[in-house]
Amino acid sequence: MNIRLGFASTQSTNPDNMKKLPELFANNRDWACSVEKNHPDFFKTLAKQQNPEYLWIGCSDSRVPANEIVGLVSGELFVHRNVGNLVVHGDMNCLSVIQYAVDVLKVKHIIVCGHYGCGGVTASMEKKTHGLIDNWLRDIKDIYSYHQDELKKYKDRISLVNRLCELNVIRQVYNVCHTTIVQDAWARKQELAVHGWIYGIEDGLLRDLKVCAAGKEDYRRIFKNSF
Ligand code: CO
Repeated sequence: MNIRLGFASTQSTNPDNMKKLPELFANNRDWACSVEKNHPDFFKTLAKQQNPEYLWIGCSDSRVPANEIVGLVSGELFVHRNVGNLVVHGDMNCLSVIQYAVDVLKVKHIIVCGHYGCGGVTASMEKKTHGLIDNWLRDIKDIYSYHQDELKKYKDRISLVNRLCELNVIRQVYNVCHTTIVQDAWARKQELAVHGWIYGIEDGLLRDLKVCAAGKEDYRRIFKNSF
C-alpha cells in the first residue's frame, strides 16, 4: 500500500499551484484510472444510483477517513462528518442527512464513530477559549458535567480524554435513536440498527462500544439508566 505522509501539501514555490492544486488533480486521475482498471465501467454503473447500506456519522478529523477504515468503496457508505461527531437535536444539516439516509436510501445501519484523542473532545475540556467552535462543543461540555463523578476516577489526562470520547459516542447514539426519523422508522418496523464505535488513531482499529440499538426495546434497555 502506498502510504504518503505530507506529500499532498501545496508546492508553494509556484504561486500558480495555490490556485490550481495540480497535485490533487493528478492524484484524482491516478485514482479514477486505477478504479476503472480493476472494475471496468465502475463509474458509469455508480452514476446511475447509490445504494448504501450504511450511514457513517464521524468526526471531521483528517486521520479518520470513513470509507478507508471500513474498506468500503464509493457508493457503499453515506457519510456525515463534523467536529466531535455530534448529533445535535436542532442541527438541520445532520438531521437532513439522517432523514435522507433512513427514509430515501433505506440504510440498514447508522454508525456513530468517534475516535480516541479527539481534538474536539479535548478542546471541550479546556478552560481557554477557541472561538465560535466553543458553542458547537457545548454539548460535549454537558456530557462531561453529566458524567463528572465517573470521570473524576481518571487520573491521567489521556485516559480521561479517551473515556470522554467514548461517552460522547454513546450520547450521540442516544441522540440518533431519539430523533423522530429513527423512532418513526422503528415504529413502521423498518430494519435499522444504530451502532456506537470508536476508532484508535494509534492502531487503526475500531472498537464496538456495544450500545447497538435495533429497535425501541433495545433502545430502552440500553439507555434506561444512562441519561
Ligand atoms: Co475528532
